[in-house]
Amino acid sequence: MAEKNEGYIGTVISTQQSPNPSSVDFVLTAGIVRRSQFVEIEHPEGVMLALVTNVFKTNKYFERADSVKEFEARGKAIFEQFPTSEWEYTVANTKPLGIFSSGKVKRPDVPPSPGSRVKIASPELVKRFYCFDEQGLHLGAIEAHGLDVKLNMTKLLKKHLAILSISGAGKSYCASVIIEELLDRKKEQGRIACIVFDPHGEYVNFAEPAKPGYVDYSDKTFLVKGSNIRIGVPNLSARMLAGIIPGLSAVQLRDLKRILEKMKQNMKAGEGPFDLAELSKAISDDDEMNQNTKSSLLAWISELESMHLFSKFDSPSMRDLAVPGRLTVIDLSDIIDVKKKQIIVSHFSQELFSERRKQNIAPFLLIIEESHQFCPEKVSEEEAISRSIIRTIAREGRKFDASLCLISQRPVQLDTTTLSQCNSKIILRLMNPYDLKHIAESTEAIDQKSLELITSLQIGEALIIGEAVGYPLFFSVRKRKSMPSSHEITLEEAALQFEQKKTKRDEETEALL
Ligand SMILES: Nc1ncnc2c1ncn2[C@@H]1O[C@H](COP(=O)(O)OP(=O)(O)O)[C@@H](O)[C@H]1O
Ligand SMILES: [Mg+2]
Repeated sequence: MAEKNEGYIGTVISTQQSPNPSSVDFVLTAGIVRRSQFVEIEHPEGVMLALVTNVFKTNKYFERADSVKEFEARGKAIFEQFPTSEWEYTVANTKPLGIFSSGKVKRPDVPPSPGSRVKIASPELVKRFYCFDEQGLHLGAIEAHGLDVKLNMTKLLKKHLAILSISGAGKSYCASVIIEELLDRKKEQGRIACIVFDPHGEYVNFAEPAKPGYVDYSDKTFLVKGSNIRIGVPNLSARMLAGIIPGLSAVQLRDLKRILEKMKQNMKAGEGPFDLAELSKAISDDDEMNQNTKSSLLAWISELESMHLFSKFDSPSMRDLAVPGRLTVIDLSDIIDVKKKQIIVSHFSQELFSERRKQNIAPFLLIIEESHQFCPEKVSEEEAISRSIIRTIAREGRKFDASLCLISQRPVQLDTTTLSQCNSKIILRLMNPYDLKHIAESTEAIDQKSLELITSLQIGEALIIGEAVGYPLFFSVRKRKSMPSSHEITLEEAALQFEQKKTKRDEETEALL
């Protein structure tokens, strides 16, 4: 009896297939065990850590339908006639993850013997297996073990992160938790800059003074309103300009390039920066260009002017966007035109990456919400202006500490090339089989069992895969400290707010009369 008190909950059984190095079953002898819990199993070479992948119950009395019906036909339940509860067994299937032996973890290549005893794993063992980092980003917990999930920043972000799920499962919430962790870092821990392209204005609350009960991040947040953004014409190359409004012929592009280069040289020589109006004038005044090219280029520039997006300088400047330990929210919610949003994402990503390559700005994490809009799969170049730079950062960013965090509710519409460059993936609830298939295809580490579990995740429950954890890990995203976005109010609250405002307006009108 004394041994039971040492915490053993089960004993490894022998079946036709197990135990083997990749599958071990045990019968529960005390307490309970749940799916997704970790257990430790006695092993000749040390201690084996295993993940409970399934739990099922058996009872010989209920194995045969005909005898169950026969016995119950007498008008009494079987348990009243037989000691059925004594014959109920709980069997757990586990997947061995590693063997801990003299301070090292090795791959499970030898199974434990039948009869080996099983305990609920100590948090210490799980922490060591997943290489949790006390200095890392605290994203949540493995609740069954009361263990905080703290992941090394480099391993999580350096080779890019994707956060994927159906709408409403907690992607933006999880991204907000990551942002908080980045903003909370101390200088000596290494702080990176964080920039988020926010098409729905879900992150603007970081810039507002926090209500009681929430941590205030407003002094660390720089909010940029989409309608105030301007792109400096001298910072655009002819190729980039052509990408914005496609359809330029090779001749038109060559002429445009020549003029732009001339203007840039003049600028360096002291003439100062120029805008689209000055570019138009230079085209009109040019005497090398034929009349047709001239009028096409002028028409094309007037189309650009109508976007109200271009000016002499970039505003804000890149150096203000990427500051260590700070967040920049680029709120695109007041822009309806998809193309205009893509141009902004494209230009700022381009400039940030180029400034980072020159080491002019801090290492950064660029968070792109709704990234399937900005980096879509199977869409022509013209409709995916920002895709090529996002692809470039995905491919080359790690060399320059320019990291991406792509967020999407439609992984299947997200560019496969880019998605497969995201080494870490946080996957919350996903239902669409095509999305699941797309993820499986772009991710080596994911197994069928984990994929199946994704469809049954609750809000805030996540699967993380990639270098940050080594082996797929299910965990709960922690509660946020920052104020939730005003998008998150309930329908009841929104209705109340509307009526309160209306009453106030009516009262004011009445007072005036
Ligand atoms: N980890 C979590 N803990 C508590 N509530 C959460 C968590 N994740 C999400 N939620 C709730 O779910 C809602 C939707 O989350 P959100 O991040 O906006 O979803 P998504 O971005 O995937 O559409 C949030 O408003 C919040 O109330
Ligand atoms: Mg969201």
